[in-house]
Amino acid sequence: MKLAFIGIGNVGFALANNLQKKGHEITIAHNNVKSESVVNAQSKNPAFAALGLQEAIAIADVVFLATPFRANEETLKPLQFKGKIVIDCTNPVGPGISHGLGSKISGAEKVQEWAKDASVVKSYSIYGFENLENPVFPNYGVNPVMLIAGNNSESKQVVSLLNADLGFETVDVGLLAQSLHLEHMTLLWVNMVRANSHHPNFTWAYLERSGFY
Ligand SMILES: NC(=O)c1ccc[n+]([C@@H]2O[C@H](COP(=O)([O-])OP(=O)(O)OC[C@H]3O[C@@H](n4cnc5c(N)ncnc54)[C@H](OP(=O)(O)O)[C@@H]3O)[C@@H](O)[C@H]2O)c1
Repeated sequence: MKLAFIGIGNVGFALANNLQKKGHEITIAHNNVKSESVVNAQSKNPAFAALGLQEAIAIADVVFLATPFRANEETLKPLQFKGKIVIDCTNPVGPGISHGLGSKISGAEKVQEWAKDASVVKSYSIYGFENLENPVFPNYGVNPVMLIAGNNSESKQVVSLLNADLGFETVDVGLLAQSLHLEHMTLLWVNMVRANSHHPNFTWAYLERSGFY
């Protein structure tokens, strides 16, 4: 697929680098293609192209949003998505590792509000970037789970394909409004690791018994 990345820092680079190695075409979307993170990403992976925001979105099948949440409103409002999938990897984080929107609404729903003509799917938000760089846990016999939310089933199917390429098992947790709960899962992970020194190389797994036993 042709993938555009708005944001190519810790999260964007980890995802783009692994997906490029799986055969996807990566274009960094930035109105300053000389910005430090763009230059740094291209020096680490010269296969990445870079174009202005709207140009990169126009040629993409899927757009990743991996920016600081505070940049999202201003970045997204002028852009045209024409129904394309936008994967929201961002998290609104407030003081003391709290929910940045006071837990009243998810960041993903705000992203949908600002990118009105996009089909927003929340994914890649619940773990630190370390597990996006390397999602392989060979000793367990199961893949790490990636919980996704969105209002459009076909869009979520496409995101599942990308998840599988990265080595994640996808579990669809429902409509985009469920993202509020995913964002709280993020706060748990961030509190454990960034505030309380838990080792960052851990994810959750989804285990389900068939039937009701
Ligand atoms: N870090 C984690 O472990 C982690 C894990 C999951 C989710 N998240 C979430 O993912 C998001 C990104 O986190 P990160 O750690 O990857 O941040 P980061 O390393 O600071 O990278 C942010 C990227 O966004 C770019 N950017 C900012 N404004 C932009 C704009 N208007 N247009 C285009 N690009 C723009 C920056 O480019 P320039 O600075 O070069 O302009 C940079 O490439 C955050 O919302 C975070 O909460 C983080």
